[in-house]
Amino acid sequence: MKIAVLPGDGIGTEIVSEAVKVLEALDLNFEMESALVGGAAYEAHGHPLPESTLKLAKEADAILFGAVGDWKYDKLDRPLRPEQAILGLRKNLGLFANFRPAICYEQLVGASSLKPELIAGLDILIIRELTGDIYFGQPRGRRVATDGHFPGAEEAFDTMRYSRPEIERIAHVAFQAARKRNKKVTSVDKANVLETFQFWKDVVTDVHKEYPDVELQHMYVDNAAMQLVKAPKAFDVVVTGNMFGDILSDEASMLTGSIGMLPSASLNSSNQGLYEPSHGSAPDIAGKGVANPLATILSAAMMLRFSLNQEAAAQRIEAAVQKVLAQGLRTPDIYSEGTTKVGTAQMGDAVVKAL
Ligand code: NAI
Ligand code: MG
Repeated sequence: MKIAVLPGDGIGTEIVSEAVKVLEALDLNFEMESALVGGAAYEAHGHPLPESTLKLAKEADAILFGAVGDWKYDKLDRPLRPEQAILGLRKNLGLFANFRPAICYEQLVGASSLKPELIAGLDILIIRELTGDIYFGQPRGRRVATDGHFPGAEEAFDTMRYSRPEIERIAHVAFQAARKRNKKVTSVDKANVLETFQFWKDVVTDVHKEYPDVELQHMYVDNAAMQLVKAPKAFDVVVTGNMFGDILSDEASMLTGSIGMLPSASLNSSNQGLYEPSHGSAPDIAGKGVANPLATILSAAMMLRFSLNQEAAAQRIEAAVQKVLAQGLRTPDIYSEGTTKVGTAQMGDAVVKAL
């Protein structure tokens, strides 16, 4: 089993080191190889996703990714910015299915901004389509308007589009995931206004015929945004397009207390996957040794489950994380009175010890 380890920038290097420690402690037969990505790769090779890094990623069974990006790169041309590395990996590896489980751990109920009774026991899964929608649709650009409200004015435009096979494959992923959970899928759209999402709704409804044992509910995205904070536990699996999923998954992350707790997986059709925390490179706390490594450690658990066929090891990691939380250990982002504040490496060491 080969794992490509791509720490990236900012807190990426700090949190990935802890996840690697945990993987090593499992004493399974992994080969781990690291490469530069994002700003770190730009500094060394002049490009955020060098050929050698892409080759390593393609050949690996799974990729453990930290985070990329820093404000100091914002002035670079778009193709050279660190964030292009993650977009390039998604595109080159065909990583179309993004899984973001939002689980509220018992010990962190008080860390959420929502009332404890709304989120205690929360365990929902957001599945975001990752390679289509308005983020990739062509044509796009800027031009001088020839029609509309202001002919002759400067304007910009993007194209929202989805093909039937793109929607079908993500719908299958969602129904199959629901089968292993509480057998309920909420498909989020904007069918009342957008043709792309009326089509989305129609195709998801067609695919559902193959999964009569799973309940399907359709919901408009504006209502879904409201329901997620009103009654989040009413959801089981949520499936949606790239843009709505981007927004709703960040909203859902806050239900759980801290973005530092949220893992993610991005899979392609051969179950090869890229695993990363849901957060970014957190330049504001980088280098201080205070970042929460648990999202990355939990991402490594997802990697074991989805790409490396090691369910038992995945569960061991998840149990170890629960154990350190039960011991009262907290990085600053999840700290509350009466618990013990620890740094990034101490948290990683505690997870290893709990294993
Ligand atoms: P961010 O997620 O990096 O940080 C948002 C806030 O959450 C900050 O206050 C940060 O300190 C805190 N935070 C994030 N992760 C944490 C952790 N593990 N422990 C404790 N606190 C944590 O998002 P932001 O600030 O919008 O973006 C910073 C940079 O990261 C940008 O350059 C952005 O483009 C990039 N980014 C990269 C992503 C990726 O690599 N997949 C995803 C999102 C943003
Ligand atoms: Mg986002």
